[in-house]
Amino acid sequence: MWRRADSLNSNELFLFLFLSVYFETYGCQMNVNDTEIAWSILQKKGYERTAQLSEADVVLLVTCSIREKAEQTIWNRLKQLTAMKNKRMKTPSPMKIGVLGCMAERLKTELLEREKLVDVLAGPDAYRDLPRLLAVAEGGQQASNVLLSLEETYADVMPVQLAPQGHSAFVSIMRGCDNMCSYCIVPFTRGRERSRPIGSILEEVRILSDQGVKEVTLLGQNVNSYRDTSEEQFCSSDPTRLSRGFQTVYKPKQGGLRFSDLLERASRVNPHMRIRFTSPHPKDFPDEVLELIAERENICKQIHLPAQSGSSQVLKAMRRGYTREAYLDLVRNIKEMIPGVSLSSDFISGFCGETEDDHQQTLSLIRQVGYNVGFLFAYSMRKKTQAFHRLQDDVPAEVKRRRLEECISVFRQEALRVNAALIGSSQLVLVEGESKRSAEELCGRTDGNMRVVFPKEEPAGGSSEAIAAGDYVRVKILSASSQSLRGRALGLSSLRGSADQEPV
Ligand code: SAH
Ligand code: SF4
Ligand code: F3S
Repeated sequence: MWRRADSLNSNELFLFLFLSVYFETYGCQMNVNDTEIAWSILQKKGYERTAQLSEADVVLLVTCSIREKAEQTIWNRLKQLTAMKNKRMKTPSPMKIGVLGCMAERLKTELLEREKLVDVLAGPDAYRDLPRLLAVAEGGQQASNVLLSLEETYADVMPVQLAPQGHSAFVSIMRGCDNMCSYCIVPFTRGRERSRPIGSILEEVRILSDQGVKEVTLLGQNVNSYRDTSEEQFCSSDPTRLSRGFQTVYKPKQGGLRFSDLLERASRVNPHMRIRFTSPHPKDFPDEVLELIAERENICKQIHLPAQSGSSQVLKAMRRGYTREAYLDLVRNIKEMIPGVSLSSDFISGFCGETEDDHQQTLSLIRQVGYNVGFLFAYSMRKKTQAFHRLQDDVPAEVKRRRLEECISVFRQEALRVNAALIGSSQLVLVEGESKRSAEELCGRTDGNMRVVFPKEEPAGGSSEAIAAGDYVRVKILSASSQSLRGRALGLSSLRGSADQEPV
């Protein structure tokens, strides 16, 4: 691929004219967004992107460290890639391997040294440096940058979607985490919490809206801790308001535009665009955030509320900053303020010191709340964390596994109950496209983020327009499983904004 030579100096010409890059993304949604940022940065420097591993000059793995298994997957992949690289060593097209993201940050030079598998290492705050790192690697040396930043939010880098999700998009609003839950590696791999200035977030939402995107998910490790202090007028002495009965491990923060301000403004960009957010922390749900979710038609009535455990004793050891009672009070408050809300959660089974009674309390909390989606994990000890230094990983692996299975089974029963309650109702569904199983069916999501499958056949009542991806459709729910709903389209519809929701 030839570029205009006058935009490049002679070294860059040599290095970049033919280089194509292949990405592989692991871990959470933040990594998917970071892949788009890294690609955006490389694209500007003249790189080509390829979907064929065999054609790639550079293979970049965007990695995750959250559990041992996540890292093991990457080590195995690196071995396979190195075998490929060795085969291509003496051909005219040698291959470079880069490790990006959380594992690069956690393992640093160990990744460069162990078995010499990697050419480039870039931590989550170092993606702007990728073109330089790759240039060094092309010169035959290993290169790394794992510096964490207090400010980097990539606010000015417009992510380029690798695999456009059609009518849904993710917008990163903050990075890092200050919560220091005792089991978690994220504060060490992603660094301190910092928020992207509101202006650049709203601009990205506006651009996406103009491109026809119908659903934006605001993204961050703690989205609802959002606090923009980028402008003087945003700085006040108001302390951040928390959910009742919740505490933080850090000193109260003061001033700045909060999550409710951002949510309010983002939801006004286009009243026909759905707004979601993930992942929030239960401590940051003051009433004003809940009121806004209840009142705005286009903010989805769906809240991820990671509980981690149903036992106050375990929650204390995890340093989550709340008790079982405070969490359940919050759930009650949310259900009262947002009738029909869908709740999802994360749980860890077999954390240090977890007894059979603690585990039973988790099962009872899952039953009591009634979530529709859950992410459940067995505890995996991570070096550097407080639990590693101060607690004993004393629940045997088979007990962790058994408790995890019991949690999954109760979760499924409850999700089935929650979903079955929707049978007979009519739901507003944003259509994603054809269902994976059949070309005769379409699939989409409810406001509560449940997947709905329904036949393509023309809606009853005879609208002659065919339903397409990106349309809002009313669907009558006819059956439910623990993971999805099935129904029949009633007709095209819209996400109507109320009078005070004019576009800005
Ligand atoms: N910031 C988000 C996501 C954190 S990672 C949040 O707080 O919700 C996603 C989930 O992984 C966590 O919610 C937790 O349930 C799980 N997790 C984190 N560290 C873990 C560990 N060491 N072992 C097992 N699961 C873990
Ligand atoms: Fe990890 Fe806790 Fe931060 Fe979530 S809130 S990323 S679990 S430290
Ligand atoms: Fe994994 Fe890092 Fe996300 S550790 S879960 S990729 S923040």
